[in-house]
Amino acid sequence: MTRPKVLVTRKWPDAVERRLASAYDLTLNPADRPLTPQALAAAMGAFDAICPTVVDSITADLVARDGLRVKILANYGVGVNHIDVEACRARGIAVTNTPDVLTGATAELALTLMLMIARRAGEGERQVRSGGWNGWGTTRLLGTTLVGKTLGVIGFGRIGQATARMAHRALGMSVLYSSRRPARPGIEAETGARHTPLEALLAQSDVVTLHCPGGAETRHLINAERLAQMKPSAFLINTARGAVVDEAALETALRTGAIAGAGLDVYSNEPDVPAGLLQLENVVLLPHMGSATTETREAMGHRAVDNLDAFFAGERPLDLL
Ligand code: DGY
Repeated sequence: MTRPKVLVTRKWPDAVERRLASAYDLTLNPADRPLTPQALAAAMGAFDAICPTVVDSITADLVARDGLRVKILANYGVGVNHIDVEACRARGIAVTNTPDVLTGATAELALTLMLMIARRAGEGERQVRSGGWNGWGTTRLLGTTLVGKTLGVIGFGRIGQATARMAHRALGMSVLYSSRRPARPGIEAETGARHTPLEALLAQSDVVTLHCPGGAETRHLINAERLAQMKPSAFLINTARGAVVDEAALETALRTGAIAGAGLDVYSNEPDVPAGLLQLENVVLLPHMGSATTETREAMGHRAVDNLDAFFAGERPLDLL
């Protein structure tokens, strides 16, 4: 029996690549260079399955072309705003993602950013490394205590809930959340979270953390007007997608003191980071590493392969979108 032809667009953990090689006619990308749009377009006509990541933009145009061979896109990652899922569906191409397995790691990184910005850890580290630290002082690098403060979570899916749970349990934070529907009462009890209209959440939170999906619906959800509704002492955390925040408006808010600080892991035009943000001390900037732990990246790969295996066995993949 001929084995399905599978393309993995980036370097994956070795154990997952070995598993794939044992089951498929596999093409890997050991150099880990992002595919060009032309190479991606050619791959759509040459492989039965493509395993893309967030950097592979699979547009309606790409999917509308003649001569498609691809039957499934097994995305490595939970967010799929880089894939036109509707257009894929219309062409009979299955799309899967990798939820659950990266929830804890991403929530951990949201907490990391909160603590770093509130406690000025980036500034402190820069001071030590540059030789600018000349000793302890009672008024130096004073940050903000998070214990007992209020966290506002925008988007209360798995990652939003996990972030709320960690902040509530570890830091005793009160949690407000905004989402289309209230969560189950059990989840509210466990995370200490209260369903709150967005405006009230923005006005009352000491930290606002974003966990909604990317895409047209949430583009610039956090704009100048919404930043102005936050407390001047508040921090904004983004581990979701860059375009959820109007970065120019954020830069202005950080420069003018409309908010106290921000912690960002994602950007509108990755890997470019707006030059204005790079100059500011009151923002922590990380390189899209929410799910970047060894355990998580391996689990994401295995989850994507589970989806492929189910699909080619004629079953419904667990994470079919
Ligand atoms: C995700 O899983 O959505 C991460 O942001 C990487 O794509």
